[in-house]
Amino acid sequence: MSSSASSLPIAIVGGGIIGLSLGWRLAEAGARVVLFERGEAGLGASHAAAGMLAPGIETEPGEDPLIALGRESLALWPAFAAELEAKSGLAVGLRTEGTIEIALTRDDAARLARRVAFQQSRGAELHWLSPASAREREPHLGPQLAGAVFSPHDHQVDNRRVVAALRRVFLAAGGELREHTPVAAIEIGGSRVSGVRLRTGEIVPASSVVLAAGAWSAELDGLTPAIRPPVRPIKGQMLSLKMDPAHPLLRHVLWTPKVYLVPRQDGRLLIGATTEERGFEVSLTAGGIFSLLEGAWRAIPAIEELPIDEMWVGFRPGSRDDAPILGPTAIEGLVMATGHHRNGILLAPITAALLVPLLLEGRVDPRLAPFRLERFASRERVA
Ligand code: FAD
Ligand code: GLY
Repeated sequence: MSSSASSLPIAIVGGGIIGLSLGWRLAEAGARVVLFERGEAGLGASHAAAGMLAPGIETEPGEDPLIALGRESLALWPAFAAELEAKSGLAVGLRTEGTIEIALTRDDAARLARRVAFQQSRGAELHWLSPASAREREPHLGPQLAGAVFSPHDHQVDNRRVVAALRRVFLAAGGELREHTPVAAIEIGGSRVSGVRLRTGEIVPASSVVLAAGAWSAELDGLTPAIRPPVRPIKGQMLSLKMDPAHPLLRHVLWTPKVYLVPRQDGRLLIGATTEERGFEVSLTAGGIFSLLEGAWRAIPAIEELPIDEMWVGFRPGSRDDAPILGPTAIEGLVMATGHHRNGILLAPITAALLVPLLLEGRVDPRLAPFRLERFASRERVA
């Protein structure tokens, strides 16, 4: 899979945080990389996201391999962000105040206790807070509060700034970015990938092709059922309000039973997100936005005074088991970097770190094993 032996470039399909992070690392390592983006880089899910780096709070029973991957990626984030800032000259808004999750009712508190016990059993550091100490940390919490947990290691980054910085460093490292260039098909000759076919009909030969097209990854021609990643769009509606940056209503990321709230340094307060199986349906709905505002208002009643800043929709690339699809496939040279679902911002540094050795040296890191595409076929055989 080495590109240094070949004069052909590595082709990456998709200019979100995953394609850009990997492209940056490959270009810096001296590889020839061409990244195809059908629109402008960084405007897919990577623009829509909340930017939480939260492997402690945002994991559910059944996600064991993902927990370890998320923690490893979180550990990479401070250096990744610092390098990105130094090389791009852009601040990426990494905030490390931690995350608080609250329960509003006794039922919520029981559910929270069950999840916290699971997360602690997997090594997450989570501390129970009394309502009084939760209010000391966040004085704008409302009167209804049945319990709270503090996660000191779950953080956030401004994902929109991250993708802007990645675009810049990818280009500075010599990567070729072809925006407004949709890829129609992966070209395969026998059992080897040979390049990509653009929607214009142009064929671009490549030594390897990385499929990093987010929620659209299953849509390309040329993918037989055996190599088509089981990825579908999971719609998320979100909005942001405008706080006074000098007097923010919130400092930590806050999870409530229904929504999460993410305060940015510039005063934006993000409220997210719905989780909907609607295909690529782009509308904002009254019910979606109402449920977000209502859920946020129950936790922080003072939000009702804040102006609305923006509302948007994004599509998480959800895989069949909610874990990313990473690594080599049955087609030599075809590499998956997709299906990051709710955690693609968190998982960008580790995704690049695991796939660079594969693409440059043909080395398959054993940590890829639980995330390879072939896991779906072996599960189907067992079933
Ligand atoms: P994308 O950013 O969607 O990029 C894929 C790119 O591929 C797009 O730019 C698209 O235009 C391009 N493309 C598609 N088809 C083609 C083609 N045929 N040819 C060329 N280009 C193509 N993750 C977290 O870690 N923390 C969070 O707090 C968080 N919050 C989220 C909140 C919401 C509402 C949503 C929707 C997602 C959230 N996520 C979060 C998940 C995260 O955003 C995604 O997992 C991540 O952005 C996926 O990155 P990506 O590069 O794979 O996809
Ligand atoms: N990770 C937050 C979301 O996907 O909504």
